[in-house]
Amino acid sequence: MLEINNHKDIINKVNILTGDRPTGKLHLGHYIGSLKRRLELQEDDKNNMYIMIADIQALTDNFNNPSKIKDSVLEIILDYLAVGLDPYKITIFIQSQISALAELTIYYMNLVSVARVQRNPTLKEEIKQKGFTDSIPVGFFCYPISQAADITAFNASIVPVGEDQLPMLEQTREIVRTFNSIYGDTLVEPIALLPSNRAGNRLPGTDGKSKMSKSFDNCIYLSDESDEITKKVMSMYTDPNHLKIDDPGEVENNPVFIYLDAFCTDRKTFKDMCEHYKKGGLGDIKVKKYLNDVLQEELAPIRKRRNEYKENIDYIYSVLKNGYEFANQTANKTLEGVKNAIGIDFSFKEKN
Ligand code: TRP
Repeated sequence: MLEINNHKDIINKVNILTGDRPTGKLHLGHYIGSLKRRLELQEDDKNNMYIMIADIQALTDNFNNPSKIKDSVLEIILDYLAVGLDPYKITIFIQSQISALAELTIYYMNLVSVARVQRNPTLKEEIKQKGFTDSIPVGFFCYPISQAADITAFNASIVPVGEDQLPMLEQTREIVRTFNSIYGDTLVEPIALLPSNRAGNRLPGTDGKSKMSKSFDNCIYLSDESDEITKKVMSMYTDPNHLKIDDPGEVENNPVFIYLDAFCTDRKTFKDMCEHYKKGGLGDIKVKKYLNDVLQEELAPIRKRRNEYKENIDYIYSVLKNGYEFANQTANKTLEGVKNAIGIDFSFKEKN
């Protein structure tokens, strides 16, 4: 078994925390929106980055389907390792293994009103989407508070997330300020680090819907086989008014071009294709074939590494064990500080 021994010195480092709900395999939207950013961040020695698989949070709206969550944990770790996230440089861990997170959540619950949580736009939207309007599970309702625990437990000052997570960050910042003002300076106030481009914030689905999402069945997964990718790309939604090859086409809201913009490294060819398509005379099949080549080239090495890691489950367990040990130690230290600040740091060690 591999010994992973990083994290020797985390003093003076920038703590970064981010996480994913394990509700399925990761797709191109995750790759362009968050994984690529994480790959960059892990290369900077100044960063101490934690990546959390948020299984507790995933259970808040999947409590009656726990096997989906359990199975997705392994899939997501395989996706992480396949794209090149490196456990020698970062800490990957599972939320439910860190019991301090649940304890911190309990203390933070006192600092937030029900009305404040109800105003959270992301939560509101999810309540509607999931049909929870008349029967919101308390666990789900409180997940923004639990997310504040995730972030503060690791003293994260930077949280790389998509736009939809801004209300969670705002909620966390409020909790930190309230905590620090009542109990004294203890917690670190984080800021969000947003993706730098539009596709990064929200890659559309292959069907042209605004978001790539498993529930819409419009995803290209990192683990898709080559022929699946071809099939999905060749049946992608494009400009519906581009009926004949010679018609001028639109590239702005055209998912084929949005994907090309996100993944094509040959910028000159990309720009030429945009111009040609807008002018007319460039057929959709040709553009899709080119996009297919681009994606195949990007995804082939990822798929290969993913299959290799899949054969080496012992290594995956050693990654998780190391991640757990380091993350647990950090979170326990924060919890100790929190209890200390509140003044409930009772210890009944015998005096002698
Ligand atoms: N809410 C995030 C999502 O839905 C997942 C998440 C849980 C998270 N805890 C976090 C993200 C802490 C950033 C920081 O994708």
